[in-house]
Amino acid sequence: MTSEPDIRVNPAQQLLEGELIDRVLASFENTPDPRLKQIMQSLTTHLHAFIRDVRLTEAEWNTAIEFLTAVGHITDDTRQEFVLLSDALGASMQTIAVNNQAYKGATDATVFGPFFVEDAPEIPLGGDMAGGASGQACWIEGTVTDTDGRPVPNARIEVWECDEDGFYDVQYPDGRIAGRAHLFTDDRGAYRFWALTPVPYPIPHDGPVGKMLDATGRSPVRAAHLHFMVSADTLRTLVTHIFVEGDPQLEIGDSVFGVKDSLVKEFAQQVPGTPTPDGRDVGDGSWARARFDIVLAPDGV
Ligand code: BEZ
Ligand code: FE
Repeated sequence: MTSEPDIRVNPAQQLLEGELIDRVLASFENTPDPRLKQIMQSLTTHLHAFIRDVRLTEAEWNTAIEFLTAVGHITDDTRQEFVLLSDALGASMQTIAVNNQAYKGATDATVFGPFFVEDAPEIPLGGDMAGGASGQACWIEGTVTDTDGRPVPNARIEVWECDEDGFYDVQYPDGRIAGRAHLFTDDRGAYRFWALTPVPYPIPHDGPVGKMLDATGRSPVRAAHLHFMVSADTLRTLVTHIFVEGDPQLEIGDSVFGVKDSLVKEFAQQVPGTPTPDGRDVGDGSWARARFDIVLAPDGV
């Protein structure tokens, strides 16, 4: 691997900078694990290219160190600022793109986010995942099939979302479990459940990532979405969301670059009094419904 000379500096300086890169690359030459060697050498090449590209000042380098230190300090068991940083830089979505290549009509994947919780309550088909979280009732239904169109019975579907105030249950200090559940598809690969009509909300922005967004004139707001994780034997686990057609935030932009056109779905508003699919009484209020047919790729593609 050789480095590109920086023609903005004199030849002696170019040589000095290039030689340093070569020495760092050589220091990884005897790495026993070939994959680790590839990663460390590529990282070296790109990191040094970046430093030379912007002619990084020492003050700027110190600012970067202070920033990463702050990211570390605010991170704990419930707050993962490094994941948030990766999300806000589009690195999470790029890693997802590299690892989930489009396969014969399989449903697109998108960012996982920090708010998934293991062991969310199981609900029956037609059950309510809101668990007391506030918001407009929304009926979600669909099927899970493989890429040959065969229904997938007993697929596990995890769903989670924020309440109408834009907060996930884990962001409240009272230990509530709401706005999350898991269920299984029936014999014909079909599923249905009650959720809440998703609303836009900001990613946590009271820490260093929020400061970065502020300093760069970016909004922390995510387009409204409902998270899904779908798994079944011999099929690739799908982590994705559905987004709400017509949400103005889709035009403004999603702060973690998670939107894919194929995941934008109609959430049809139902006027108050419209009978619900299962006879549930939603009081005087309006409700909404959406359909999401999920196609899982084979494992290992
Ligand atoms: C989320 O959708 O839950 C999320 C994704 C990335 C960063 C923060 C939140
Ligand atoms: Fe989310």
